[in-house]
Amino acid sequence: MNIILLGPPGAGKGTQAKKISEYYSLPHISTGDILRENINNNTSLGLKAKSYMSRGELVPDELLITIIKDRLSKNDCYRGFLLDGYPRTIPQADALQMILTESGKKVDVVLNISVDDEELVKRLSGRRMCKCGASYHIIFNRPEKEDICNACKGKLYQRDDDKPEAIRNRLTVYKKQTQPLIDYYNKKKILRTIDGSKEISQIFEDIKNVLEEYGKL
Ligand code: AP5
Ligand code: MG
Repeated sequence: MNIILLGPPGAGKGTQAKKISEYYSLPHISTGDILRENINNNTSLGLKAKSYMSRGELVPDELLITIIKDRLSKNDCYRGFLLDGYPRTIPQADALQMILTESGKKVDVVLNISVDDEELVKRLSGRRMCKCGASYHIIFNRPEKEDICNACKGKLYQRDDDKPEAIRNRLTVYKKQTQPLIDYYNKKKILRTIDGSKEISQIFEDIKNVLEEYGKL
């Protein structure tokens, strides 16, 4: 099954993607994670992406389309995939459709996680990350030991774009460039909206209920 997770910054895409990917054994493809990994490894892609990301702006479409085309061609995507953070613009969605059509595939369902702005700001400003990919929140999802990752015992840090000015910019960019995708996928009748204001485990239950409707995964 080919799934897209859509939603504003801080909606819980990464949190839910981790659960969905483990439960259904689907590769979790987060373009944000791919870009951050490139920045950490000082690749030419990372150098190009860095300034856009720290300002909270979108990285140019052509770079993202190349990344996603390459990633979807990998063997682990043969029985499905879970996209988190892609597409984020209409040209990215059109490109995805072309890439999938070429290999006889399609997007099965778009899960649109909906959360209001006030809650998003609280979630993003309290988020703490670990290098191993785990994500925590200083109030809603606390690590067992302050500032230390439960899984790998690494020191937690705050993402550059989780600072107040970048958060404001990301929300504005989301409304202008990504929100139109709700209508785009609604017209294709594959959009399902999930109430993302609930507790993490309850949202996962709601998502499973929707995915079960789509049959065998
Ligand atoms: P990306 O990494 O994709 O960031 P984002 O979309 O801004 O979303 P976030 O990762 O911030 O939030 P999330 O929805 O994953 O929430 P999370 O689960 O962590 O992109 C970063 C940047 O990369 C972009 O700004 C852009 O520059 C670039 N980029 C990436 N893809 C691109 C593309 N396709 N095109 C162009 N540029 C691209 O949760 C947030 C916090 O809330 C956590 O602390 C978590 O513990 C907590 N939380 C989660 N769920 C709940 C809940 N139900 N209740 C309470 N707290 C919760
Ligand atoms: Mg994320």
